[in-house]
Amino acid sequence: MKFFADTADVADIQDLASTGLLDGVTTNPSLIAKSGRDLKEVTREICALVDGPVSAEVVALDHQEMMKEADILRHIADNVCIKVPLTIDGLKTCKALTRDGALVNVTLCFSANQALLAAKAGATFVSPFVGRHDDVGQNGMALIADIRRIYDNYAFSTEILVASVRHPIHVHEAALIGADVMTAPPAIIRQLVRHPLTDKGIEGFLADWGKTGQAI
Ligand code: E4P
Repeated sequence: MKFFADTADVADIQDLASTGLLDGVTTNPSLIAKSGRDLKEVTREICALVDGPVSAEVVALDHQEMMKEADILRHIADNVCIKVPLTIDGLKTCKALTRDGALVNVTLCFSANQALLAAKAGATFVSPFVGRHDDVGQNGMALIADIRRIYDNYAFSTEILVASVRHPIHVHEAALIGADVMTAPPAIIRQLVRHPLTDKGIEGFLADWGKTGQAI
C-alpha cells in the first residue's frame, strides 16, 4: 500500500520523506489556503521533495478552463498529478489528460458508480473520501470495498486512493480491503507507528541492558 501525505506543509513533507516511507503527496485548494503559500511555488517545492505523484487541483468548473489550468500545473514538475473533481467536465478533462500521458487524480468520489466512471475515463487515481462519507452517517469503508470489487471485476488499472482519512483504523481497514493508496494528514501517519507496548518494551529492555554494564 502506498502512503501519501495529505498536506501542503513543506516542513512536514520533508520530515516524512526523510523516513523513506512516503510515496507521494495530495493537496487541495483548502490545504493550499491553509499553507498561506503560492500554489505554484509550494507545489514546485513539494515535487522536489518526493519522487512520487504530487496532486495539485484545478479550480475551474468547465472542461476548457480545466485544461488550461492543468496545462500550467503540469509544467511545474514531471511528478505533478492533476486533480479534477468528479463531474462530467472533470471526467472529460481526465480522459483528455490521461490520453496525453498526464497523471490524473479524480477527487471528491462518494459512490461506486462515480468510481466506475473515473476508471472508464482512464484516471490514474480515484479518491473516495471515507471520512466525509462517515460524517454524513454512511459507511466510507463499505464504499472502498465496493470499488475494489468493481475494479477487480473489470481489471481496471485505476488505483484506489483512500482519502479523507481521519484515524489509524481507516488505514488498517483500507489495507485489509486492498486499497492501493491512502492519503492522510502527517499527524495520522505518525500515529501509525505508536504502540504503548512498543514503548514499554523498549523501556524494559534498556533497564535490563543497563544492569549488564555492557556497551555495543
Ligand atoms: C484528498 O486528496 C483530500 O485532500 C483530503 O483527503 C480531504 O480530506 P478532509 O475530508 O479531511 O478534508
